[in-house]
Amino acid sequence: MEFAYRNGALCAEQVPLDEIARRFGTPCFIYSRAAVERQYRAYAQALGNRKALVAYSVKANSNLAVLALMARLGAGFDIVSGGELARVLAAGGDTRKVVFSGVGKSEEEIERALRADILCLNIESEPELARVAAVAARLGKRAPIALRINPDVDAKTHPHVSTGLRQSKFGVPYAEAERLYREAARRPHLEPVGIGCHIGSLLADPAPWVEAAARVIELADHIEQGGISLQHIDVGGGIGIRYRDEPQRSIEDFVGGALRALGARPKTLIVDPGRSIVGNAGVLLTRVEYVKPGAARNFLVVDAAMNDLLRPALYDAWHEVRTVREPRASAATSVYDVVGPICESADFLARDRALAAGAGDLLAILSAGAYSMSMSSNYNSRPRAAEVLVDGAVAHLVRRREEVPELFAGESIPAW
Ligand code: LLP
Repeated sequence: MEFAYRNGALCAEQVPLDEIARRFGTPCFIYSRAAVERQYRAYAQALGNRKALVAYSVKANSNLAVLALMARLGAGFDIVSGGELARVLAAGGDTRKVVFSGVGKSEEEIERALRADILCLNIESEPELARVAAVAARLGKRAPIALRINPDVDAKTHPHVSTGLRQSKFGVPYAEAERLYREAARRPHLEPVGIGCHIGSLLADPAPWVEAAARVIELADHIEQGGISLQHIDVGGGIGIRYRDEPQRSIEDFVGGALRALGARPKTLIVDPGRSIVGNAGVLLTRVEYVKPGAARNFLVVDAAMNDLLRPALYDAWHEVRTVREPRASAATSVYDVVGPICESADFLARDRALAAGAGDLLAILSAGAYSMSMSSNYNSRPRAAEVLVDGAVAHLVRRREEVPELFAGESIPAW
């Protein structure tokens, strides 16, 4: 849709990617504003006029321009660190719409969150409950909290991104929840306001997601019968996208299922999607440095690497690769592994792809809007890529390419 061939060149909206390469260089992440907004609106539409909040999961893509787009659309934010909170503030996000997840919040992070008056801290353990109460007491505040419940539902996704099973580090066991809510209600500096869960990422089928939501809603009913009233149910994120040709049910199918489970209860439904908003709204643009024929395989050595896009190395993830120049039907293709310059065998972006490409050609690695730049590193002392946001016919540089001296600007040599 937003990434399509026009006049022989792959474009982001109306801007040809080769023009972006000329202006900003490679490797470079390119996002489409229209695609991001369309995906957000799919959530807004599915939620209709119910009391609801779409809390965009910042970890998927935390560029300030993306966060600012989300803030303008009225989104809230799901954060997991003080760094992400600072980004939301810098992007003009509304802290009253921020939920703070994660198993390891430090005292300093809790304090910053309370000072910023966020909507809710999602508590993941009993010691964390005590820590939040202590920080709130010190600040003379009441901390709004929700328990993140581990609903023990199999998300049926990649084990690295599955979080809702009993053996996972996330959430508090279902059976412990009632006791912890009583404990929270008893503490003057805690205010239970909600309940939540998140069972994993890249879900294709709504069934486990809706089942987890239903379990948490049932638990909320039970907690309320005990005299603790909760204003919101956070059913997490995790809705998958199509990277290749996998079957993928719509956002409407997921959200509709959760709304049906909620029924007429007058609660706010919170969803915290990341990937399904930005995943297919971005590509990684890279240039072929060398065509390297090998004894067993042929390689396209490109200027992007696992430090830019870790997902193939980490999860064996599949990202589609397209040549920026539209391939002619008659073009001779060869089968290549697309690899980066990093000194690791795991440094590949794609394997066994039939491509008509040569040295100097541009390639676009698709579906690189989520968990790509946000998981990038400086491994091999490689500066991070530039990021560009396309809006119609205009390409905005939203993060300049890092420069090498920045990489060691914080380092020093002792005076031996
Ligand atoms: N809420 C919570 C509490 C989460 O932990 C996550 C993601 C989300 C929401 C957003 O999930 P999404 O809608 O984006 O699936 N690096 C992995 C994905 C890790 C997901 C971590 N948690 C990947 O590249 O596939």
